[in-house]
Amino acid sequence: MRKIIFVTGNPHKVKEAKEILLPLGIAVEQNKCGYPEMQEKNLEPIAKFGAEWAANKLKTEVIVDDSGLFIEALGGFPGPYSAYVFDTLGNELMLRLMHGEKNRSSMFKTVIAYCRPGEKALVFRGEVAGEIATSIRGTGGFGYDPIFAVGGRTLGEMNEQEKNKLSHRYRALVKFSEWARGDSNSGSPPCQGDVITS
Ligand code: IMP
Repeated sequence: MRKIIFVTGNPHKVKEAKEILLPLGIAVEQNKCGYPEMQEKNLEPIAKFGAEWAANKLKTEVIVDDSGLFIEALGGFPGPYSAYVFDTLGNELMLRLMHGEKNRSSMFKTVIAYCRPGEKALVFRGEVAGEIATSIRGTGGFGYDPIFAVGGRTLGEMNEQEKNKLSHRYRALVKFSEWARGDSNSGSPPCQGDVITS
């Protein structure tokens, strides 16, 4: 079975990645070495830079995950600033920011960047459309899960299997696994640095 190093300090992301990738034939091992997080308007360059940095540091192939919540009524905020906003505002103040707002459409996005030492990263995108709930609902998942609803239920109200069948992370990791399968079969040629689009 192919094994991949997932560079992240977030144990929830690791748990989800393991559950999603194991049935797809990829074992996941966490590494907490960290990487510099660039300030960018999009997730892709943040994930790519992190993967390239970590692959060179660890001298092995790695994946990193950069995710964000993009709220339509707020012009895509907090987007790439989602971690900072979650740490400073949290879900209650996010809901207060959205108080009285009728347009609650939002998108959760994950970019998985894969890289080998000395090469350019490849990126795999996953996104799921949803709505910002009007109250905090559910105790499952992590981060914004209790305020992000898909099909009327927040991700926090879903069990792990339900979230992992439809989430932004699931969609990005499935694309990664499809690419990895072809990569293994073809004897691991060098990455071309292509961006793999959704
Ligand atoms: P990052 O990818 O760690 O930068 O995540 C940005 C922010 O979004 C952090 O506050 C995470 O907790 C949150 N986040 C990332 N993935 C998810 C998810 O699947 N559900 C809910 N919140 C998430």
